Amino acid sequence: MAEKIRVLLSEEEVDAKIKQIGEQISKDYAGRQVHLVCVLKGGSFFMCELAKRITVPVSLDFMSVSSYGSETKSSGVVRIVKDLDEPLKGKNVIVIEDIVDSGRTLSYLLDMLKDRGPESLRLCTLLDKPERRVVDVNVDYTGFQIPDKFVVGYGLDYDQRYRNLPYIGVVEFE
Ligand code: PRP
Ligand code: MN
Ligand code: MG
Repeated sequence: MAEKIRVLLSEEEVDAKIKQIGEQISKDYAGRQVHLVCVLKGGSFFMCELAKRITVPVSLDFMSVSSYGSETKSSGVVRIVKDLDEPLKGKNVIVIEDIVDSGRTLSYLLDMLKDRGPESLRLCTLLDKPERRVVDVNVDYTGFQIPDKFVVGYGLDYDQRYRNLPYIGVVEFE
């Protein structure tokens, strides 16, 4: 365990940004109900904090996906490990992610969810690493664009650890 975590975005910065996004979503969806779809596990911390900052009616659902083995990863196919409990038909859906990296997970997921007939479908991510993009994804709400560093915290893991950090840190290996 010879790694150190350096703070990239402090708890205050992240919380302030989430509050801002919540206010923006509340404006954009005034008079409607939003249905937040959390992509487990990374999206979970962000979704809970964001949901608290949204003032229009909110409903929630969760799904879990995993990429196929590394050889087929370039195909961008993801496997649904846990599907949503409820249909999306007629709902104003916002998919909540912790990070968009290559874009493979989200591009596949958004295409799949679109076919379920939501009234609208948007993507909200806390972090975006544009340098790493392989597949084009349209992101509607972004917290922070960050450089290509290995980041953890606020839902993001390194080997399943550090998700619970209340800030975003960079893993420094020594
Ligand atoms: C990470 C992250 C996104 C996805 C982004 O999830 O939380 O869901 O990868 O990568 P991409 O843009 O290259 O597709 P991960 O598969 O690590 O699962 P986790 O959320 O359970 O950690
Ligand atoms: Mn994830
Ligand atoms: Mg992960």
